[in-house]
Amino acid sequence: MAFTGDLQGMEMVLTFVGLLFLFLFFGRYGVINTGKDVDGVDVEKPTLHFVPSSIERLQSITRFSRDELKTLYRNFKTECPHGIVSEEKFKSIYRGLFPTGEAEMYAHYAFHAFAHRDEEIINFEELAVGLSLLQKGTLEEKLRWTFRLYDINHDGYITREEMAKIVESVHLMVVEPPLADESHLAHSEKIFNKFDRNGDGYVTFDEFYESCVNNQTIVQSMMVFHKEECDVDGSDETTIWHH
Ligand SMILES: *[C@@H]1O[C@H](CO)[C@@H](O)[C@H](O)[C@H]1NC(C)=O
Repeated sequence: MAFTGDLQGMEMVLTFVGLLFLFLFFGRYGVINTGKDVDGVDVEKPTLHFVPSSIERLQSITRFSRDELKTLYRNFKTECPHGIVSEEKFKSIYRGLFPTGEAEMYAHYAFHAFAHRDEEIINFEELAVGLSLLQKGTLEEKLRWTFRLYDINHDGYITREEMAKIVESVHLMVVEPPLADESHLAHSEKIFNKFDRNGDGYVTFDEFYESCVNNQTIVQSMMVFHKEECDVDGSDETTIWHH
């Protein structure tokens, strides 16, 4: 996954794709393989530091089916035997997903977008809710979620500084060789100015939403792994890079 040359404003797309890779990661045994081998999983097994919600509750707060949740949970438990994910774990996952880049900074922001209570750990429920929205949510839900990533301090709007940090983190993760500092800034200024529709220095969710839904490239990227009946096999992974 090495990027050379100009990103041509693809940061928005790459931000979202970066989030979705997490989904592929946790679902890597065929994401949601509804076939055999799900019965053996005991979701309620209380040997963890964090005991997950009942599967009925998870079904009611996500869009995953029972079998999908079991598969997701099995993968989750393999990676996170204690039932929680730390920021360190996110970083190591992203390092694995983007081995040629520096993914730590992006992983840090992605982690805090998932950690809804601004805690140091994410539990399975938070992860499942986030992944469910990213994969199966409406366009608006996906955009709200992505907005939350950009709105680093979660105060309801994106500032120039926040935009610059996210753009830099995406560049560090996917661009090779790394761009110069001025180049991150130039890109993020361009995006910010486009998104800040009334030019007041703050991008609200409404402005963010308007800019994104009117851009087919962004909309399509949000739908890349979208599946109602989830049967992603990972093969999309290669094609999305050919924009
Ligand atoms: C749409 O978004 C892409 C990716 O961020 C960007 O390269 C392109 O310039 C945008 N198009 C318009 C018309 O804003």
